[in-house]
Parts: sequence; structure tokens; C-alpha cells
Amino acid sequence: MDEFRSHRRFAAIWDWATKHESKAERALRRAAAESASGRILELGIGVGANWAYLAPGADYTGIEPDKFMLQRAQARAKKLGREMKVQEARAESLPFDDAQFDTVLVTLTFCTVQDPAKAISEAARVLKPGGQLVFVEHVRPDGKVGGWVMDRITPVWRRAAAGCHPNRLTGATIAAGGFEIESMQRRRVNGLPMIAGIARKPRG
Ligand SMILES: C[S@@+](CC[C@H](N)C(=O)[O-])C[C@H]1O[C@@H](n2cnc3c(N)ncnc32)[C@H](O)[C@@H]1O
Repeated sequence: MDEFRSHRRFAAIWDWATKHESKAERALRRAAAESASGRILELGIGVGANWAYLAPGADYTGIEPDKFMLQRAQARAKKLGREMKVQEARAESLPFDDAQFDTVLVTLTFCTVQDPAKAISEAARVLKPGGQLVFVEHVRPDGKVGGWVMDRITPVWRRAAAGCHPNRLTGATIAAGGFEIESMQRRRVNGLPMIAGIARKPRG
């Protein structure tokens, strides 16, 4: 069943939240965006919170399905004085040919897409061989108790946060999607376990 819908209120909250991020969150965002190179595709751009950290003149395309996020992203691009190429699309069915991009950038989005395995396989499809998936995601806590608690919280969290799942095993899903994990740090940010790193599409 297709569960996607746009969320006017969540887009407003996210716009505010990304302007008031902690130092640690901002550092992860900055490091991810600064690792993006070549032809870049960003999945689920939200309000464009990564744009301030992309290199000037970057060859960039973003996709986002939520019309309220898109409106706010356009306003942010204007404020930054940057022209950003953006399309309305979903990560599970990317409107691009195979092997088009050097970098797929994704921050805090695999928690929300309806089918993360499909989105990761689409990311692999559109990347060139040797291309990189640069990711920052919050994930299910490691410990038995923390994981159990998060599984219980997830149904309510999903409803409150526009489909976000705080109990996804995104690192494992990326590895299962045919990527080689080149680097991955795991740390708590604002109380949530986060992973940040680079996964590479094999060359041959
Ligand atoms: C928590 S926000 C993160 C936004 C942005 N990546 C950031 O780091 O600020 C999650 C985003 O994923 C988007 N999203 C939801 N379903 C999606 C899908 N199927 N494909 C791509 N993006 C999706 C939402 O609309 C929202 O903009």
C-alpha cells in the first residue's frame, strides 16, 4: 500500500529544526555534504539543509516527494542565492538512467522512505561503478533494551514524524544492497544513535 503523503506541518517543523541544529548534527551534515563530489544526486532533500555546505558550482540534482518540503527548499535556495536543480520524485523509483552519478548524498531520509531496500538498490543503479553513497542516518539502538524500547515507540513516532522509523538497521540494509562500506562512524547525537559514512558501489 502506498503510504506517502505530503506533510505541511512537519515541513514547517523541519524547517525550524534544521535552523536550530546542535553543533554535532551540523558537523555531520557539513562533513557529508563536503564529501560529495562529481555529479551529485541528493535523495529526500527536505528543506535543503545540506545546500549551504555543498561546494559552490557543484553539479547537483536533488529529489523530494513532499510538496511542502519542496516549497520551503525553494525559499531556502533563494535565501542562499543559489540555483538548485530539484525534481519531485521518490527514492524508490528514481527518474534517472543507470550509472549517471558519482555521489548519492542522503541524510536522515532512509529512516522515512517507505521501502529503504528499494531506495538503496535505486541509489546503486544510478551510481557509476566506483561511485559513493554518502550517508548520515539515525538508526535502531544496539542494546537489547534500547532496541526493544525503540521498536515499541516506532508506531507513535512514525505518526508524529511524517513516517520516520527510529528503529531501522540502515547500515545493514546499505551493505545488503551491494555496497562496500568504506567508512562508518557510529555515535549518539541528541540522544539518538547515528551512523555516518561512505559506501561504495563496486567497480566490476
Ligand atoms: C527527516 S526529513 C530529512 C530531510 C533532509 N534529508 C535533511 O537531512 O534535512 C526526511 C525527508 O525524506 C523525504 N521522503 C519521504 N519519503 C521519501 C521517499 N520515498 N523518497 C525520497 N524522499 C522521501 C521526506 O519528504 C523528508 O523531506
